[in-house]
Amino acid sequence: ITCSTDTQTVVIGLAADSGCGKSTFMRRLTSVFGGAAEPPRGGNPDSNTLISDTTTVICLDDYHSLDRTGRKEKGVTALDPRANDFDLMYEQVKAIKDGVAVEKPIYNHVTGLLDPPELIKPPKILVIEGLHPMYDQRVRDLLDFSIYLDISNEVKFAWKIQRDMAERGHSLESIKASIEARKPDFDAYIDPQKQYADAVIEVLPTQLIPDDNEGKVLRVKLIMKEGVKYFSPVYLFDEGSSISWIPCGRKLTCSYPGIKFSYGPDAYYGHEVSVLEMDGQFDRLDELIYVESHLSNISTKFYGEVTQQMLKHADFPGSNNGTGLFQTIIGLKIRDLFEQIVASRAKTPLEATKA
Ligand code: ADP
Ligand code: G6P
Repeated sequence: ITCSTDTQTVVIGLAADSGCGKSTFMRRLTSVFGGAAEPPRGGNPDSNTLISDTTTVICLDDYHSLDRTGRKEKGVTALDPRANDFDLMYEQVKAIKDGVAVEKPIYNHVTGLLDPPELIKPPKILVIEGLHPMYDQRVRDLLDFSIYLDISNEVKFAWKIQRDMAERGHSLESIKASIEARKPDFDAYIDPQKQYADAVIEVLPTQLIPDDNEGKVLRVKLIMKEGVKYFSPVYLFDEGSSISWIPCGRKLTCSYPGIKFSYGPDAYYGHEVSVLEMDGQFDRLDELIYVESHLSNISTKFYGEVTQQMLKHADFPGSNNGTGLFQTIIGLKIRDLFEQIVASRAKTPLEATKA
């Protein structure tokens, strides 16, 4: 009620299970806005927050109402809504959106305890990332745009093994067991949120290799809701048509098993959507410009911006496939959405104050 409208924070929700590429996505997103996001200076070294010039990313684990011991005692997982304080989440996201700083709790992932809170000032863009950004209707209604990263079980398993075995020394059996233990709550509380997402990035095993079970080559779908304000879906060749495209040949080097794009209209949880799909992986990222030049509505500011972003972060996981490509494109779409919201407020300051 008291805030000035030109500073009102745009709020983005990013939902996914842990270990599904949220932090990688956030690094791509903040890079599009020009500047890496870093932990708050001089604060708790175990803070989960990332801050850049424009964007603050908060991790919703900070709204755990039960710490690790509390969860163990009550026999609930971190995915269970009973382990999370949605009232506080709503109050604080609403306050930030209204231009008011908050003292946000910190869930310490090292100790499993709740640490003393940190001050979060209203940024231009607030990203709330974690397990439940779209679970509570009040929080959901505060989101200007929402994304769900939908990693299929096969792929999730392959990534977990890579990280938890190689980097954290866990055994194959314990990884399997932890995925199995989370599954019922994941299915009950996390997965259903995808029906509310404005964009879903779905990651599946390839269909280019018969009976592939390595999980290295990926088929990635970008599912974009129609009719979302300030968001017009990306398309391939001709908007609204159905296309299947194999770009390999003279202008794009592809080794086995090649690359296949598809595009077309579809339905998703009763919503009209456009789906862009990429199966396979790039051999040479500099040739991505060839693919980029056939995509429309990608909200770039200059020719080749997608390719430039992908080359800049070639070392991030997923840069040679649809995960990196679609995360980059969604980053550009969010920049566009943000700029449109700011422009619309500048035009109708009175309208905006009334809202
Ligand atoms: P989160 O923040 O959701 O926990 P991260 O971005 O830290 O996830 O990614 C966790 C791990 O998953 C990475 O270390 C990497 O092994 C794997 N990973 C993430 N995104 C991709 C991707 N697009 N392709 C391959 N592996 C990925
Ligand atoms: C998920 C949550 C974390 C939680 C972890 C392990 O990754 O995002 O907040 O710490 O699960 O939960 P645990 O109950 O084993 O500490």
